[in-house]
Amino acid sequence: MPSISRVGEYTHLTPEDLKPPGEPEVFFEPADTEIGVWVAADLLPSGGGGTVLDLGSGSGAAAAAMARAGAARVHGVDNGRQTLRWAERHHATPDGRVSFALGDYAVLGPRELLAGAPGPLPRPLVVTSNPAYVPLPEEAARTRPSISGGTDGLKWAGAIIGHARALDADLGLTIGSYSTPRRAAALLAEAGYRIAVVTLCPLPFGDFTLRHPEQVLALEERGEAVLWRGGPEPLAYFVVGLACRRTDGTPGPDGAEDLMGLLRTAARSTTTRLESLDAPGGAPPPWPVRILDLPPAAARHHW
Ligand SMILES: C[S@@+](CC[C@H](N)C(=O)[O-])C[C@H]1O[C@@H](n2cnc3c(N)ncnc32)[C@H](O)[C@@H]1O
Repeated sequence: MPSISRVGEYTHLTPEDLKPPGEPEVFFEPADTEIGVWVAADLLPSGGGGTVLDLGSGSGAAAAAMARAGAARVHGVDNGRQTLRWAERHHATPDGRVSFALGDYAVLGPRELLAGAPGPLPRPLVVTSNPAYVPLPEEAARTRPSISGGTDGLKWAGAIIGHARALDADLGLTIGSYSTPRRAAALLAEAGYRIAVVTLCPLPFGDFTLRHPEQVLALEERGEAVLWRGGPEPLAYFVVGLACRRTDGTPGPDGAEDLMGLLRTAARSTTTRLESLDAPGGAPPPWPVRILDLPPAAARHHW
């Protein structure tokens, strides 16, 4: 029976992970990172095991947390040199359980991405990604590789979904409620993925998005982005973690309207608990929904 649950604190990141790295080219947004770990945990075998290929692994804190959550192996790939150095120094393990490699997942093929990982990679394989997902105007987009998701927020989604599918893996994808979620759901369904669990986390706009909101507001105007305007911050959105299972390809509903309905209902809330999702009478979402109602981060850093 689909249900709504709430988590009020960081479960996967450690107190050390909640301290900003202080390096200019290392992404730091703990809520995003935490949600990515929940999504991986939703897809990993319940007794532990399996491998995660984390595309755009950033600081590596997510990869390390996925291993603590039970993955037998986690391999992260990122195209930021400083990012990679940070991840290797702080989160790679000597036994190779958590490893990282420099690479551009928009250029490398799926087998090449896996080839950079040392040692055997036990199945099942889960591909995860918390890609740059902010829809930005073109000029602004060029300057922010860690957050710019092109004009619809889904610039990287095609490559990520393609890798997961080619590797016959389940897929954990994180987007924003402004990253054209209807289109994201359609892309996933077309590739044979079925949404299994949704995790939502309310988050105020980052500084750069606040200074360049045009594209997000245009998408909202067209009904393609859901923003949260009723909460404590004037402009906020929901980070949306989509834990997706690979299907045999039999066409089914894409869940796009259910996802939009869920986000619009959440956006009627006035508190970070997203209490409007509890209102009686509405159609319950077809998947379990987890709400992360997290304490604000000490800092945020998007480059
Ligand atoms: C939004 S950050 C997420 C980082 C990490 N997954 C987390 O949740 O903390 C996106 C990351 O993807 C990396 N990235 C962006 N485009 C990439 C690409 N084409 N190939 C590999 N990494 C990429 C950036 O360097 C950045 O570290």
